[in-house]
Amino acid sequence: MKLHIFKDADAAAQAAADFIADRISTGNAKVLGLATGKTPIGIYDLLRQKVAAGQLSFSDVTAFNLDEYLGISADNPASFAAFMQQRLFDHVPFLAHHIPDGTAADPNAEALAYEARIKAAGGIDLQLLGIGRNGHIGFNEPGAAFDSVTRVVDLSESTRIANASDFPDGQQVPQQALTMGIASIMNARQILLVATGEAKAEALRAAFRDSASPDCPASALQAHEDAVVFADKAAAEKLSSD
Ligand code: F6R
Repeated sequence: MKLHIFKDADAAAQAAADFIADRISTGNAKVLGLATGKTPIGIYDLLRQKVAAGQLSFSDVTAFNLDEYLGISADNPASFAAFMQQRLFDHVPFLAHHIPDGTAADPNAEALAYEARIKAAGGIDLQLLGIGRNGHIGFNEPGAAFDSVTRVVDLSESTRIANASDFPDGQQVPQQALTMGIASIMNARQILLVATGEAKAEALRAAFRDSASPDCPASALQAHEDAVVFADKAAAEKLSSD
């Protein structure tokens, strides 16, 4: 794992946007894995600005998102589909973009089909990840098997609390989600994990300083040949410098 530490979240987002733009422009990220959550918001804003300035095009890029809540339709503002439309897809033409369908009649079949769609696209060239406070990647919560693929998962209580602000007006955070598995993520040829803020410091320490274990799903990335971590100082507080 290559670690780069930035002074703050804005600097980390700028570096991540530049990194992604460079990989796309050089033809190394034709299939891009994307994440939702608070961490990538600044990255997507910057990528949109690059497109608006004529410095970047996603028109040859196919995107696959990591995950979606089960039972939440794309027109629900709390869905990850709506997040992606608002933050990126409505503003930037992609060749194609995919996100698991949280309202599929048969979620297990949707999970298998999603995994197959990624393979049919040639696999993911560059996967953008955030990290949960509990060390999750995608919605692979602690205990998830390192050989897991796209499937239906139960969300942990801490994840449901962390994401509650996305569900206003008394809406309950769903109990389950569809997520790419740890093996699906590890199949990406390159991984960029971005972590900002002191709330992520313990998760980063467990992921990269302890032995790899399903107790911390992100620790699977220790075995990836091309994983890059962009952290701000606060998130990197418990990692000694590499
Ligand atoms: C999002 C996802 C999650 C988030 C993680 C961090 O698609 O799969 O693993 O990356 O929960 O979320 P934020 O960035 O909101 O702290």
